[in-house]
Amino acid sequence: MTYQGNKASACGGSTSAAGAPSPAHEEETLLLDGVGYAYRGKDSHEVLSGICTGFREKTMYAVTGPSGSGKTTLLSLLAGLDAPTSGRILLKGKDIREGGLLAYRRDAMSLVFQSYNLIDYLTVRENVLLGGPCDPDTLLTRVGIDAGLRGRSVLRLSGGQQQRVAIARALAGTSEVLLADEPTGNLDEETEASIIDVLKRCAHEDGKCVIVVTHSSRVCAAADEVVELSRINKAAS
Ligand SMILES: Nc1ncnc2c1ncn2[C@@H]1O[C@H](COP(=O)(O)OP(=O)(O)OP(=O)(O)O)[C@@H](O)[C@H]1O
Ligand SMILES: [Mg+2]
Repeated sequence: MTYQGNKASACGGSTSAAGAPSPAHEEETLLLDGVGYAYRGKDSHEVLSGICTGFREKTMYAVTGPSGSGKTTLLSLLAGLDAPTSGRILLKGKDIREGGLLAYRRDAMSLVFQSYNLIDYLTVRENVLLGGPCDPDTLLTRVGIDAGLRGRSVLRLSGGQQQRVAIARALAGTSEVLLADEPTGNLDEETEASIIDVLKRCAHEDGKCVIVVTHSSRVCAAADEVVELSRINKAAS
């Protein structure tokens, strides 16, 4: 595990005058170039500012920080659910807004939530198929869901089993980026260890860029890199 946090100072000069990433950042799958976000409305305030950092393939990152520091906000920008109010996010050198956020969400990334977000009235297999064209049994074997559970409604699974189904759904399709918000927040230690193992294999065996927002010291210890949000977020200083 290594700690990230000083890359923020590398922001100026990370892109060329034409707006293309500099050679130093070509290896980044996702590059945040001066990203900021302010919630608008009555109590409008800037949550993120001047974030410059990168995320590579084949790597599992843990993004950590105190409650309210903006982790979920950052993840929603990386997921293309919202657009930064300043700066930009590049996927392999291209602004994710260029081809449309809808296409980005559909093709380039998948999301895992703390509360699983499975469809209750569908079976385990059917939920996995919602993630994209795939062989659900292969994916369910990978995440350790036995054949006997696969025809069941997801309501009849434990929390840890439901989270594994959610990860199998995220593995359907060909997205390069897997994002997870507190994926082990509701799970006991042993189940958490199995989820960590599945996420690490997504990075190391499938070559995905895996970014996990977490409060868990065990997830941080298992990650290849830990990103402390307050160290790269100028709104926090
Ligand atoms: N829809 C919203 N409108 C206005 N402010 C919001 C909204 N969502 C979040 N915030 C504020 O933005 C800040 C960051 O919230 P965010 O949910 O990103 O934090 P977090 O780091 O994920 O926290 P936690 O660890 O508790 O999940 C907080 O001050 C929060 O109150
Ligand atoms: Mg959050």
